[in-house]
Amino acid sequence: MRPAMRVLAKEHLALRAVARIVAIEAEVLRRDGRVDLDLLEDIAAYIAEFPNRIHHPKEEDFLFRHMRIRAPQRCGEILDRLLAEHVEESESIGTFRTALAAYRNGLPAADTHLANVAASYAKYLDRHIEFENTQAFPLATEVLQESDWAEIDAAFLANDDPLVTGDQDSRYTELHRRILRMGALPPGL
Ligand SMILES: [Fe+2]
Ligand SMILES: [Fe+2]
Repeated sequence: MRPAMRVLAKEHLALRAVARIVAIEAEVLRRDGRVDLDLLEDIAAYIAEFPNRIHHPKEEDFLFRHMRIRAPQRCGEILDRLLAEHVEESESIGTFRTALAAYRNGLPAADTHLANVAASYAKYLDRHIEFENTQAFPLATEVLQESDWAEIDAAFLANDDPLVTGDQDSRYTELHRRILRMGALPPGL
């Protein structure tokens, strides 16, 4: 596997695990009326700080850009959909954070609203990753050439997502532990 693809695969595993926790918390909130609010706030902060600030923009600026140059016809539709989802993502994280703040402040019906927002956000994240894994990435490996990969690999190898590195000094150490406890990531991640 190309170095960039290995980094992307690990970041997708981490984000998928995060989506799973969000889905579980949404279900617990719906059934029992309680939620691990600190953890969900950490998740929202993590998503804003890493996937949304680094992962998705690098996909666009390096991987997707080269794909469109090499094979605009074959890649156009898939890339247009993914770019639209990235735009949608920045709105979705805002909605999620607003729902968390409403719950934190004890606003009326904030629990039901948060459960709904969290459940659909988790579904959205999971679907986005699945589409990239199964449609965009295989297409990238088909259409890109060696000279494209040098720049793409260098860009992704510079990433330092704390849920991938397991950085012990990060704000997200507890989130990383929770992911490992779920058995959602393979050993070594
Ligand atoms: Fe993406
Ligand atoms: Fe991605």
